[in-house]
Amino acid sequence: MKVLIIGSGGREHALAWALRRSSRVTGLYCAPGNGGTAAIGENVDVAATDIDALARFARDNAIDLTVVGPEAPLVGGITDRFEEEGLRCFGPRRSGARLEGSKVFAKEFMARHGIPTAAFQVFDDAAQAKSHIAAREAPMVIKADGLAAGKGVYVVDSRDDALKAVDEIMVDRKFGDAGARLLIEDCLDGEEVSVHVICAGERGFALPSSQDHKRAFEGDEGPNTGGMGAYAPVPWFGDKERRLVFETIIEPTLKGMAAEGEPYSGVLYAGLMWDGAGPKVLEFNVRFGDPETQVLLPLIKSDLFDILYRAAAGELPDSMELMDGASAATIVMAAKGYPGSYGKGFEISGADELESGNAVVFHAGTARRGYKLVTSGGRVLAVTGWNKDLRGALKVAYDGVDRIDFDDAYWRTDIGHRAL
Ligand code: AMP
Ligand code: GLY
Repeated sequence: MKVLIIGSGGREHALAWALRRSSRVTGLYCAPGNGGTAAIGENVDVAATDIDALARFARDNAIDLTVVGPEAPLVGGITDRFEEEGLRCFGPRRSGARLEGSKVFAKEFMARHGIPTAAFQVFDDAAQAKSHIAAREAPMVIKADGLAAGKGVYVVDSRDDALKAVDEIMVDRKFGDAGARLLIEDCLDGEEVSVHVICAGERGFALPSSQDHKRAFEGDEGPNTGGMGAYAPVPWFGDKERRLVFETIIEPTLKGMAAEGEPYSGVLYAGLMWDGAGPKVLEFNVRFGDPETQVLLPLIKSDLFDILYRAAAGELPDSMELMDGASAATIVMAAKGYPGSYGKGFEISGADELESGNAVVFHAGTARRGYKLVTSGGRVLAVTGWNKDLRGALKVAYDGVDRIDFDDAYWRTDIGHRAL
């Protein structure tokens, strides 16, 4: 079977690594891919958002399954398009991708189906949003409706900062049309946890719970990033918690989508806040997380190709096997300056061996230049380790980091510490 993976980050290298392990996968392509995917498959020079060119490639090369990494092509309707051409694609259709592509759609959907989430109001007029802010107390959360590369959420402690957020989103249009509408939400307090579910219609398999670290620096200081590390599972999140998440969030979401005539297939990634009353949805993503994928896939024992191939056709195998009682941790090695501007083209040493023992090095922003491996992005590598407990997994991952070197490298030294 030939598989095409769409995207170019650490998530996509992890997907390539896991799919490569399937005896059924005979050809692996990644568009556009990175230095890591080039070493285990073939990179295809097509952008992740060029749906026409991707469909042409899949047709011309008789691709059996396409797995979509990032949200933009899903929101752009890649799955609908592939299905129209008789091509199998893992990821929700445009209708389902609205759960991530429009925060207003997601909140109104949750309200229709009684799914717990923070109380909210929707605005399409800056003056009305501002008079609402004047009449309420901080803290509060302001969110741009559309895709904003993870930067459209403002958790603010004062009315002044709330007003500034409205200006950035709706007046300055910092995120373009994504800011034509915005949400003002109650600020939730508690423990954050993420649950990834592989879905086909009304059924879903939960992967282990996980937590990522969004801030750039130790102690959750500094600017927000795409994610500087992650671990799984979250120690306090057990069977009871998973059942509650399924009963109150996952099942009502899948049933609700089906009842609205839009059955959902693909990954549903629920970002949750857990307070005294239980779980509430902070956000839905309609794809695998990055770097959560790098920490979750090594914990799956079943054949990932088989699961995704079937899910893309609306069914799931009867069971999915996870590595029993194991934990995993991933450390992102970034280039100094990220998430702002950073240098590129630095030679990387020590990352050529993909897998050794319980560690695997996933590439994110890397490229091959002749025989050399060089940096080509802000998040450069993600080093994952797994072991019988989180402390052991972290040790393996950080030992892996210590073997790798490139100019300007930085990483957080406190991944997973809150859980220990
Ligand atoms: P989102 O992109 O919607 O997940 O938001 C990014 C981050 O903002 C989340 O991971 C939370 O840390 C925070 N956040 C979002 N919504 C809320 C909320 N209603 N209350 C508190 N924090 C929130
Ligand atoms: N790590 C957060 C995300 O993938 O959205």
